[in-house]
Amino acid sequence: MKTVKFTAMKDGDREDYEFLNEHEIGFAAKTGDRLLEALVKLDESLSGYKITRLGHSLQTATRAWRDGADTDWIVSALLHDVGDIYAPYNHDEYAAAILKPFVREQCTWVVEKHGDFQRKYYAHHVGGDPHARDKFAGHPYFDDCDQFCERWDQTSFDPGYDTLPIDFFRPFVTEVFSRKAYDPSVMRPGERVPLSDPETARERNGASA
Ligand SMILES: [Fe+2]
Ligand SMILES: [Fe+2]
Repeated sequence: MKTVKFTAMKDGDREDYEFLNEHEIGFAAKTGDRLLEALVKLDESLSGYKITRLGHSLQTATRAWRDGADTDWIVSALLHDVGDIYAPYNHDEYAAAILKPFVREQCTWVVEKHGDFQRKYYAHHVGGDPHARDKFAGHPYFDDCDQFCERWDQTSFDPGYDTLPIDFFRPFVTEVFSRKAYDPSVMRPGERVPLSDPETARERNGASA
């Protein structure tokens, strides 16, 4: 297998770095596939709930899809807990770092903060702070994170829910991670897209009922 000539980075030349750049582009193109594999691994994490972490992720994304949410929201919902395996104490920031170059700023913020917002539902039972979210009061995306948790995340632990399979979401993930990183037409800083779109929801639920 061809490799670069150098053993220390400072000794590399243009040919070496052009060669590496090609490799990097090929590797980056498969990010979506690797993330879906990581999601499947989530099946092994965090026992005790009535459904697995993969089941929870798929159910969260299914609710987003049925709400008529756009692709950025659906993929963010699907991957919001992907950090559970390697970053159990800041899984929200971990997932946000993965999504950040490829989805709207609004969605990245919501995923990054969802851990604090979720505390509203359980922290008072374990000596934590259910008001951890209050430090973000007045932030433009505060209500979006509130809705993300209320409508999609905290409610998606139901083994009886009709959850869509992982392959249903593959095209959404592939589309998002094939985008140009940090494309301004994707980032759209400050723009708020509603989580739900009633007309799209009607179409989808009619088609999938
Ligand atoms: Fe989470
Ligand atoms: Fe979650």
